[in-house]
Parts: sequence; structure tokens; C-alpha cells
Amino acid sequence: MSISHVLTDRFGRTHSYLRISVTDRCNLRCLYCMPHEDMPFSPHHELLTYEELIKIARIFTRLGVNKIRITGGEPLVRKDLPSFIQQLKELNTLQLIAMTSNGILLEEYAKTLKTVGLNGVNISLDTLNQEKFVNISKRNQFDQVMAGINTALDTGFDFIKINVVVIAGINEDEILNFVDFVKDKPLNVRFIEYMPFKNNKWAQGRMIPYREIKEQIETHYPLEAIQSEPSAVAKDYALVGHTGTVSFISSMSDSFCGTCNRLRLTADGHVKSCLFHSSEISLKEPLRDGASDEEIIGLIQQAVLLKQEAHEPMGVLEKVDNRPMITIGG
Ligand code: GTP
Ligand code: 5AD
Ligand code: SF4
Repeated sequence: MSISHVLTDRFGRTHSYLRISVTDRCNLRCLYCMPHEDMPFSPHHELLTYEELIKIARIFTRLGVNKIRITGGEPLVRKDLPSFIQQLKELNTLQLIAMTSNGILLEEYAKTLKTVGLNGVNISLDTLNQEKFVNISKRNQFDQVMAGINTALDTGFDFIKINVVVIAGINEDEILNFVDFVKDKPLNVRFIEYMPFKNNKWAQGRMIPYREIKEQIETHYPLEAIQSEPSAVAKDYALVGHTGTVSFISSMSDSFCGTCNRLRLTADGHVKSCLFHSSEISLKEPLRDGASDEEIIGLIQQAVLLKQEAHEPMGVLEKVDNRPMITIGG
């Protein structure tokens, strides 16, 4: 079987970036991510084991994946995550291993993660106000996240990005505070348009288009565009006199599906070709039934060929039958 085109979809896009969700559990309850507070988490036997994940990751790297991002839920609530990252590193085929985390456990784990091969972290933080943090995430963990960010800064990662989901009436008044927050820190703060998922309290009026956020910043600081990789989801800018940089992720008002190079593997073993599309192919049962690498490659190809040209527009998207964000991992 020729494997060189397995990760090329019907629209000519090739995929070299795999996002692996290692758990659907989380130690926060963010309003835009979890459908409801008492959402049932998957029992452990429904999650792929690290051994199974490594087997699949190795196959993906044979097919051309060179970047893996670990996501959740919150990846660090899964036991022994550093050993999994070390095994990914030992594949010796990845140019970049990254993780998206809420930061709570980074004070404890950042240094170990760096030692075993993690290149960088993206940390979710939607407010710089402790009280508001509790309103958004239903947990009083603001100080822990800040401690996590500080430890990450001391650790010497190649990059640290701060993800801010901007929501009207919640944190739109903090945009300039975030820009000031990164003035003397080597952090990239990314303002993200609020995206609709089932029961995540999204409404068009609560989504602030990135141009409005950018204009607000530009009334105070001139922004200088930084050339990003063609497949990047963020538009990046430098600010004169600032160590930190700012970016915008415009999934809603200016989507970037045409250059998408991302595939997803959910914690329960499904390959998902688009964040916003419900089509998925399960690898878990075939793997547990002894499928060969060639059979797994065939299933991955099926998932890739299901990928649509672009996601539905707002209005339609909010009604799409998709998994909750917490079980996709962003
Ligand atoms: P980098 O590797 O640093 O570029 O990270 P990333 O932006 O791919 O990952 P991260 O987990 O930090 O996600 C930041 C935001 O981008 C989240 O809101 C994600 O849901 C969103 N995002 C990531 N990948 C995609 C995608 O393929 N499509 C869309 N529409 N949004 C995405
Ligand atoms: N809209 C935009 N971004 C979201 N994230 C989670 N839910 C949403 C949403 N509804 C972001 C988190 C995290 C990343 C994985 O996805 O802030 O940083
Ligand atoms: Fe947890 Fe991240 Fe979802 Fe918040 S956005 S509930 S931190 S997985």
C-alpha cells in the first residue's frame, strides 16, 4: 500500500499536525467548554491506553505527521502524562511536541515535562481577575494558574502562549489588561473568537469579531504583523516596546479552513478530521481486535476523506450535532 497520500484530503490539503486528546476529564468547569457541570466522564477502559496511543502516533508519523499537541479535557489530570510525552519523544520522528493546558498543574509538572521533551505550552486563561475566574471556570484556582504560568516562564520552554476566549459581557473589558500583562514577559497572548458547541451558551452577540479586538488594541499600541506559518490558526503581531506578542484566532469571522493541516484523535479513540464536523472513525475497537497497521492506515484514510472543504457558517454551526468541546480538546 502506498502511504504517501493517505493524509491528503479531497481538497488537496495535507495533514502534518495531530492533536491527541488524552482525557475528557478536567479540574475546571469553563462555561464555554462543558455542556453542564455534572457531565459524565468516560470510564477508563473507554480511553485509549498510552500503549495504544503510541502505536497510533507512530503510524501517523509514518504518514507524515511531524507535530503533536496533547490536549484534554485537562491533559495533566491523566496519570503519568510525562511518561507518555517521553515515549512520544522517543519515537524520534516529531519536530514538535506541545500541550494545551489550563495551567493548574504546571507548577508541579512544567520542569519534568520540559525534561522529557515537551517543546512548549499553550495555557488557557480568560481573565486576570480572581473573582471573574471563578465565575467562568466554577473553581477557585486563579492563583494556581498564575503560579503555573510563572513556573512555565522559569522552565525555558521554546514558547508559551496564553489562550483568551473573548466573550461579550464577561472579559471584553480585559483586552488591554492582557496586552499589558505580556509587556515584559516572553508570552504570546492569543485572543480567540468564542465558538459555538452544543449547549455551550454561545450566541452570536456574545462573539466579538477579532477586528474589533484588534482595533481596540491599536488605539493604544501600533501593531506590526509577524509572518506566521501558512497553516497557523493565529494572526500574530508584535508591539513596539513589548517583549510579549499578541495574536487573534478568528475561527468565526475569518475562518482558515483552506490551509488547515490538523487532524484530531479523541481520548476514546476516534479520528476526527474537523473540529466542527461530527464525522469520526473509531480506531479503538479495530485496534483491540488486533487490526494490522495497514488496516489502521485504511481507517485513518477514511477519516481524512470525510473532511469537508470548510466549516458551516455561524447560524448553522450552532445547530450542528457535534461532540462537546471538552471531549474534542480544541
Ligand atoms: P499552535 O500549535 O500554537 O498553533 O496551537 P493551536 O492554536 O493549534 O492550539 P490551541 O489548543 O492553543 O488552540 C487555540 C484555539 O484555536 C482554540 O480555541 C482551538 O479550538 C482553536 N483551534 C485549534 N485548531 C483549530 C482548527 O482546526 N479549527 C478551528 N476553527 N479552530 C482551531
Ligand atoms: N470557543 C473558543 N475557544 C474555546 N476553547 C474551548 N472552548 C472554546 C470555545 N467555545 C479553547 C480553550 C483552550 C483551547 C483548547 O480551546 O480556551 O485554550
Ligand atoms: Fe477544562 Fe479547558 Fe474546557 Fe476549561 S476550556 S473546562 S480548562 S478543558
